[in-house]
Amino acid sequence: MTATKGLEGIVATTSSISSIIDGVLTYRGFDIDDLAENASFEEVAYLLWCGKLPNRAELAQLVQDLNKYAAVPDSVIEQIKTYPKDTNSMAALRTAISSLALYDPEANDMTPEANLRKAIKLQAQIPTIIAAFARIRQGKEPIAPKQCESIAENFLYMLLGTDPEPVAIQALDKALVLHADHELNASTFTARVTVATLSDIYSGVTSAIGALKGPLHGGANEAVMAMLEDIGSLENTVPYINGKLANKEKIMGFGHRVYKNGDPRAKHLQKMSYELSKITGNLNWYNMSIKIEEIVTGQKGLKPNVDFYSASVYTSLEIPRDLFTPIFAISRTSGWTAHILEQYENNRLIRPRAEYTGVSGQKYIPIDGR
Ligand code: ACO
Repeated sequence: MTATKGLEGIVATTSSISSIIDGVLTYRGFDIDDLAENASFEEVAYLLWCGKLPNRAELAQLVQDLNKYAAVPDSVIEQIKTYPKDTNSMAALRTAISSLALYDPEANDMTPEANLRKAIKLQAQIPTIIAAFARIRQGKEPIAPKQCESIAENFLYMLLGTDPEPVAIQALDKALVLHADHELNASTFTARVTVATLSDIYSGVTSAIGALKGPLHGGANEAVMAMLEDIGSLENTVPYINGKLANKEKIMGFGHRVYKNGDPRAKHLQKMSYELSKITGNLNWYNMSIKIEEIVTGQKGLKPNVDFYSASVYTSLEIPRDLFTPIFAISRTSGWTAHILEQYENNRLIRPRAEYTGVSGQKYIPIDGR
């Protein structure tokens, strides 16, 4: 038995949800470029869960269900109020999502209908939880969700407390489409491993949030913004990045296990970043990002991934930096839950082996003899 570090190149499951073939990302066979230009996040979520794009009636029903389930139980809001105000936002999200299960009477109902319903509930409630957490830690009352056409609109409304501009809704909606699913990424694999024990969907999503939190995965978007803030100015970009590369430090938002010739989602986020920066009149973050790309791609051959331009996009939308990864989780909930449903459909326990590298033949020595 020989281990492959990081399971690189290992095909661990079959899936008909999304694929990355020759650098092209598809959801259910639709090219991400096509979906990013044309589909709403709600259409994409339906596509991931049900395997086809919804017709008007099906989409209207989904939007109605998302609105119906968007409020979270008062007990969960009360619990969020007890979290330390400076707690990590992904830790808060992980805890709150886990606690939703306590108040869902069908949390352990494993029928396909109940599981799909819970997927929709989780998708509806995760934005409400994040917005509530963001306001509560500022000493403000959370804003209840309203009847909205889109999750993007409802989230920005609950977060910022005003009706968002159409341009902001469209930008967030597109970002959600771009992040919705990504084959067997670390957090999706985590979700599948959890539910393959026949544990419940809340456990699957809770463990996925834990995996997404890390800076080598979803946490990179926040780390990119921290880096941009640290650099501070266009003039400082070249010496700062050169210094990091000379120290063999990683530049967050670059590189990918699967894409070696560029992440197809990055170009959409770069374009959005430019367009939003022009609207806000602050091109500083965008120009610094372009300069960083020039250096890192030029010197290391590494291309930006989905997280790199997300940072300046979300900053232009006035979203606090530590909510970037929770927003990733809003979107990826659609993919996680689609994979969980697929795992249940054709389940087998996921239990690989480890190549043992420890010592052998040891004999027990009584404690006084050690
Ligand atoms: N900056 C500088 N060098 C890098 C970077 C980077 N961002 N990414 C990879 N490299 C280098 C490594 O140092 C390594 O060099 P070496 O062979 O000289 O030691 C080589 O490229 C291979 O890197 P690994 O880390 O082994 O590649 P792996 O496939 O395991 O990791 C990962 C992929 C985690 C995405 C990596 O590129 C990375 O850490 N990037 C920064 C974090 C990031 O942006 N994560 C978000 C990924 S997208 C997502 O999850 C949503």
